[in-house]
Amino acid sequence: MVETIPSFGLGTFRVDAEKTANAVESALQLGYRHIDTAQFYNNEAAVGKGVRDSGIARDDIWVTKVWWDRLARDKLIASLKDSHAKLDIGTIDLALVHWPSPDGAVPIAETLAAMQEAQKLGLIRHYGVSNFTARLLEEALEAPGGREIVTNQIEVSPFLANRALVDATQRLGVKVTAYMPLGEGRAHNDPTIKAIAAKHGATPAQVTFAWLLSRGIVVLSASTNAQHQQSNWDAQKLKLDADDIAKIDTLDEGKRNANPSFAPKW
Ligand SMILES: NC(=O)c1ccc[n+]([C@@H]2O[C@H](COP(=O)([O-])OP(=O)(O)OC[C@H]3O[C@@H](n4cnc5c(N)ncnc54)[C@H](OP(=O)(O)O)[C@@H]3O)[C@@H](O)[C@H]2O)c1
Repeated sequence: MVETIPSFGLGTFRVDAEKTANAVESALQLGYRHIDTAQFYNNEAAVGKGVRDSGIARDDIWVTKVWWDRLARDKLIASLKDSHAKLDIGTIDLALVHWPSPDGAVPIAETLAAMQEAQKLGLIRHYGVSNFTARLLEEALEAPGGREIVTNQIEVSPFLANRALVDATQRLGVKVTAYMPLGEGRAHNDPTIKAIAAKHGATPAQVTFAWLLSRGIVVLSASTNAQHQQSNWDAQKLKLDADDIAKIDTLDEGKRNANPSFAPKW
């Protein structure tokens, strides 16, 4: 049984259901043990199919995120039962609050109490949050059950180093998971990252993932292409030097890609 969140995972956002099962199966066969899905992605059933078809032992870790409009107790439990049925892989390893309840409409204490109830019902093993600011995370950690939060999944890329939030999350003892790590594809063509990649005989994506891993951040990368999946996975073997890291650190522009109308005040 994997007890802590694996540091390199496969994302499935914007991957249509038809391609998802194959992508998940191929990633698991390459060694991935962490798959990120969400109710909002409409592909939970396909993720479950990929898991079952892979033939890999179930003792791995999964995430299914709960959308921000179902955080009240009854809605949360009902939605986790629905995810549990769609995935059809037994207990979900990790459920995340996908976005904080806008304006705190549903108190985090209510959501966390429902997460604990879902644990007792055998629907989920762990829970965490996503897109929480440092203030919201502190508030969550102080609520009953808050200390069990395993991760804050947030956007981090070379162009949004998100340093204050990453530092605060890590200082609070919560793992940071990075989404949209390539800055919506921008990393592939960035001259600084390309030069570092050339120096190491690596790809710009690998350099970007290695930079995130060097900061103790869990990486989510999405790909339906088995060659990309393999090459991304191999980023875990790439060690950047202090000079490479310092150069990537200069690329931070605070450029946020995921900022919907219901996002918290960053
Ligand atoms: N919590 C949240 O609010 C939130 C928000 C956004 C995303 N997420 C999660 O984070 C995951 C990662 O974010 P993302 O989907 O933006 O991922 P990403 O890995 O930054 O970008 C995915 C895209 O990059 C391409 N790609 C991946 N590796 C490549 C490579 N080596 N060479 C060339 N192209 C490559 C993929 O195309 P190919 O398929 O052709 O390889 C795909 O189009 C999501 O899938 C989702 O699970 C969470």
